[in-house]
Amino acid sequence: MSTTVTPHIKTATLNGVATIEIARPEKKNALTQAMYTAMADAIAAAVTAREVRALLITGQPGVFTSGNDIEDFVQRPPQGEDSPVLRFMRALLECDKPVVAAVTGAAVGIGTTMLLHCDFVYVADDARLAMPFVGLGLVPEYASSLLVPQLMGPRRAAEKLLLGDPFGAEEAVACGIANAVLPPAEVLPHARRVAERFNALPPGAVRDAKALMRAPQREQVMQAIAAEAEIFTRRLRSPEAMEAFQAFFQKRAPDFSKF
Ligand code: COA
Repeated sequence: MSTTVTPHIKTATLNGVATIEIARPEKKNALTQAMYTAMADAIAAAVTAREVRALLITGQPGVFTSGNDIEDFVQRPPQGEDSPVLRFMRALLECDKPVVAAVTGAAVGIGTTMLLHCDFVYVADDARLAMPFVGLGLVPEYASSLLVPQLMGPRRAAEKLLLGDPFGAEEAVACGIANAVLPPAEVLPHARRVAERFNALPPGAVRDAKALMRAPQREQVMQAIAAEAEIFTRRLRSPEAMEAFQAFFQKRAPDFSKF
């Protein structure tokens, strides 16, 4: 077993599975630029390691991630192709090995959108997914404006993406974002067992099959990501976003009445 610990991201490879564990429970696993960089590096290392047959992404008991660190959004907004968040999402999108996610508790913002790009998603019955971008003065990201309406239809997608309504494990399974609901204590062991099944499968065939499954939509996904990123980056500096971020820091409801 090999392990690495960078602040708030723990990685370990055991029995053919590279695990990436988000570990910043005091901030509900909010993701900083340093954490995205560590996760991007971990995916790159897992892709090149011959002994790794699958990847497993998980959080802490009771919280997967509360999404992008909002202070980071203000202090260090992502810019350009080399931004850590883009590097992480690109690594996830281009990962040619199966990726399994184990989700308990909150999966907010990029916590939900990253699941759209995993191959298997197991959720605890306490999982709460949400994409509250609009309420933060932002827009959906990483092809969620394309994939969420495809998965759940435009009406339910409007609830999730325009109103930012959270939804639970059963709905995540019903719309195809997740594979199965499990009791919280069983999510990670189950996800690990699924990932370990790839030890018994031919890796070349798995890689080719995954590429074929993604190929038909690849171009559309990339176009959506580029279009979203341009608007998202601009909106991060908008007065609407500033009001939403200030409200978050001041633990009050935002006031958009003046816009
Ligand atoms: N960025 C920065 N800090 C965050 C954070 C985030 N995304 N999410 C939570 N935190 C911090 C809180 O500010 C709080 O810090 P404090 O103890 O210094 O006050 C701490 O983590 C605990 O969060 P809290 O809100 O008290 O926990 P909770 O259990 O009541 O609620 C969430 C959990 C995830 C529902 C809630 O924290 C939340 O909605 N977070 C923001 C999610 C968000 O909008 N993400 C961005 C999406 S683009």
